[in-house]
Amino acid sequence: MLQWKWLLFLIILVVVLIFLTIYLLIKRHRGHGYFLSKFSAFTRIRFSGLEKRRQTYCPANNKCQCHLKGSAAHIEPNLLCTHRSPTLYMSFAGAAMVVGGVRTTEWRGSMREIHRDTNDEFDALFFTDPAQCFYLQDPDYQWEGLTYYRNLIKLYGTLYQRVILIGASLGGSMVCMCADLATVSIAFNPILDPVLLGLHWRIMGAFCPARQAEVVRNQVHNTMEKINTNKNDHNCVLHIHWSQLSKADQRQAHGVIGGGKHSKPIQTECLTSVLDFDIDNANMSTSSGVHIWFHRSKEHILAMQLKRTNQLIPMLKRHLTATSIGLNTISHILDEKQRQDLVIINISL
Ligand SMILES: *[C@@H]1O[C@H](CO)[C@@H](O)[C@H](O)[C@H]1NC(C)=O
Repeated sequence: MLQWKWLLFLIILVVVLIFLTIYLLIKRHRGHGYFLSKFSAFTRIRFSGLEKRRQTYCPANNKCQCHLKGSAAHIEPNLLCTHRSPTLYMSFAGAAMVVGGVRTTEWRGSMREIHRDTNDEFDALFFTDPAQCFYLQDPDYQWEGLTYYRNLIKLYGTLYQRVILIGASLGGSMVCMCADLATVSIAFNPILDPVLLGLHWRIMGAFCPARQAEVVRNQVHNTMEKINTNKNDHNCVLHIHWSQLSKADQRQAHGVIGGGKHSKPIQTECLTSVLDFDIDNANMSTSSGVHIWFHRSKEHILAMQLKRTNQLIPMLKRHLTATSIGLNTISHILDEKQRQDLVIINISL
């Protein structure tokens, strides 16, 4: 009899603990729109709170009115705006699950680091995906996201000297789908085929119906092939970084580099080079082609790891040197000046 009581007590305790955990989780993530974005993805219901985070515009000139007020949900650049920086970064934030909520300005810190000590100014446009579905939902939730973002990048391409796309995980997917429209594109752990995601990822991380998964697969293939075969009217390069020891990343990578459990064919038409990561490799700063880099990492959150070990910024700088207009020349001028100063010092000594 006593045992039954204990058992009952234990069950109640467990139930209370479960509810407490759920409560704490919701409380912790509510501000970041974590659960709301999942709910929105499944139900396709729009929440104005989330839609307001769809885009954040951070111009170098903070008095800039290049975007109309209230254009957070629907992006409308002001074409009459005259003070744009030479460079525009477009950041596609990853799955809310990985970063613990919808991050509004993912990569902002890194961009600032890259441009620290240079005169090279940049504007930045940060995207989040309120539906958490590979950016495939447009603001009207008609599954027109791909056209929507591609049109935006095309438009911005006409307004800036160079457009840099950056994103991780499901953000990386959109980077790979649009890289042919930009100057430099950098994708960390991109998901090139949502169907290959494990079940828990599909439920918690990035929900994507089968028909939409096909949209991702086809567009990624077309874009990569277009870049690799140089069918563009401008130079453009796509760098993909994957964690070699991550099962999730391996599944995605096999789809393009071939191999894996199902011995997939290699997509040679899409690949310019497939190499182990080496910051000194010449292809790190090339201005064309599709380059895949494998890192000796187990984690799907490669960029965070690289950042923690201070490898991220030097790496991004390498990617950007080839196509940089201001950046390169300024650091070059600095180097040149330092060298001259050194010569002068030597002479005077
Ligand atoms: C760089 O990429 C080219 C293909 O564009 C490849 O042939 C070459 O081996 C790569 N270079 C290095 C140093 O790995």
